[in-house]
Amino acid sequence: MMHITVAGTGYVGLVTGVCLAEVGHIVTCVDPIQEKIELLHKNISPIYEPRLDGLIRKNAEAKKLFFTCDYKKAYANADIIIIGVGTPENEDGSANLTFLYTVAREIAQSVEKDCLVVIKSTVPIGTNDKMEAFMQKNVVNDVKIEVASNPEFLSQGTAVHDTMHASRIVIGIESDRAKQTLMEMYEPFQQPIISMNRRSAEMVKYASNDFLALKISFVNDIANLCEVVGANIDDVTNGMSYDSRIGNKFLQAGIGYGGSCFPKDTKALHWLSEEEGYVLRTVKAAIEVNEKQKFKLMKKARKEFASFAGLKVAVLGVTFKAGTDDLREAPSIPNVRLLLNEGANVHLYDPIGAANFKKIFPTQVTYESTIEEAIENADICFIFTEWKKIKDFPLSLFREKMASPYIYDGRNCYSLAEAQKADIFYRSIGRPAVNHVSEKETVEI
Ligand code: UDX
Repeated sequence: MMHITVAGTGYVGLVTGVCLAEVGHIVTCVDPIQEKIELLHKNISPIYEPRLDGLIRKNAEAKKLFFTCDYKKAYANADIIIIGVGTPENEDGSANLTFLYTVAREIAQSVEKDCLVVIKSTVPIGTNDKMEAFMQKNVVNDVKIEVASNPEFLSQGTAVHDTMHASRIVIGIESDRAKQTLMEMYEPFQQPIISMNRRSAEMVKYASNDFLALKISFVNDIANLCEVVGANIDDVTNGMSYDSRIGNKFLQAGIGYGGSCFPKDTKALHWLSEEEGYVLRTVKAAIEVNEKQKFKLMKKARKEFASFAGLKVAVLGVTFKAGTDDLREAPSIPNVRLLLNEGANVHLYDPIGAANFKKIFPTQVTYESTIEEAIENADICFIFTEWKKIKDFPLSLFREKMASPYIYDGRNCYSLAEAQKADIFYRSIGRPAVNHVSEKETVEI
C-alpha cells in the first residue's frame, strides 16, 4: 500500500485515482475547482463515466480515497504524485502546458520528503525532462523530486474497465528506483509493464493516438473513394479485418474523429515535428482528411437542399462518440452552427449529451426528449452519433413521422437493405445511396 496523490480530477486523473484506491492504495485527489471537490465529497463524479460513482463511494467509505483542494497538504508526504491535468490545444496546434507547470510549481513548494512525480498527462516529447529540472530548481525543502512518464490509454465511456484491464502499462524512467516504485504501484493490477526512457514513453502515447487517428482517416478516405467507384466501405473493412495484421478495430467510417485526444494529439505531434524541422506527412494527412470529413454530410445534403433556411432539421446524436456526454471536438458542433446560420429550425435529440450541448446553444436549438419528437414533421434528419437508441430506432418511423424522409447518417447506423425496405431517402458514409420511391432510381451510386 502506498500513499498516492493525484493532481486533476478529469477523465485521466479521477479514473486513475479511483482505480488505484480500488486495488488497495491510499489515494488523495486534488483539484483547485471547489465545486468538483464538493460533488466528489457527495460521491458524485463530475464526469459521466460508467461505474465511476459506485467505485468513488465504495473507496471513499473505506477511507482509501480522499478529495481536496488543499494541494499543500496533499503533496507534502505523498510517496507518489501523479499528474493527470489537461494539456489542451493552443491556437497554433501546440500543447498548452499551463496547468502542468502550475501543478509542478505547487508540488515543488509543498513536498516534504523525496517523491516520484508521475506524468500521465499527454505531453510533448522532452517535457518530463523539463519538468524534473523545473521542480528541482523551484523545490523549497531539501528533498529530491524525480519524474517518470506513464502515459494513459483509457477511452471515455470505458475508462474504468480500460484502467482495471489495461493492455499494457508504459513507464518512462531514468533510474532503477523510479522503476521499482512504479512496479510496486502497479503490482496489484497484474498487467504487462513495459519500461523505457522518458522520451520514448512520451512518444508511445502520441504515436499510439496518432496511429489510431490515421487509421480512421485512412478508412474515411477509402470510404469517400468507395462512394465514387461504387463499393461499400462496410463490406470493404469487413473484408480487410480478417487479416490479423490489420485487425478489426478502428475501421468504422464516419464523419471523422473528435474527442479530447485525437484532434489535439495529432496537431500537437505535427506541430512538434515541424518545430524540429521534420514534416510528419502521414499525421498531416490524417488531420486534413478529418477536417474535411466533418462536413461530409452537409456536402451530400447540398445536392438535395440548396438552402436549409426555414426547414425543420432533426439532429440525432451530438456527442463525439456514443457512451459519453463529452462534446469536445464533436463534429456535430460546426454542423449545427452551419445549419443555424442558414436559418434552419434545429430539433435535437441526444440521450446524454443534450445538457452539455445546451451550454453551447442555449436558445437557438429546440431540445427534444425522444427521437420521435425530433423527427416529427422534419424535412431532413442528420445523424452525428451512433447511440444504441438511434441504431435501434425503427426506420419505418422516419417514413411515417417526417414531412419528407431525407436521412443523412454520418455513422452508418442502418443497413442499406433496411433503408430500402423502409422506403426512405438515405445517405451514409462510403456506401451506395438509397432513394425514396418517389425518386427515379431505387439505388444509385
Ligand atoms: C482515444 C483513445 O482511444 C484512447 O486510447 C486515448 O487514451 C484517448 O483517446 P477516446 O477519445 O475516448 O479515446 O475515444 P475513441 O473511442 O478512441 O474515439 C475517438 C474518435 O474516433 C470518436 O470521435 C469516434 O467516433 C471516432 N472513431 C473511432 C471512428 O470514427 N471510427 C472508429 O473506427 C473508431
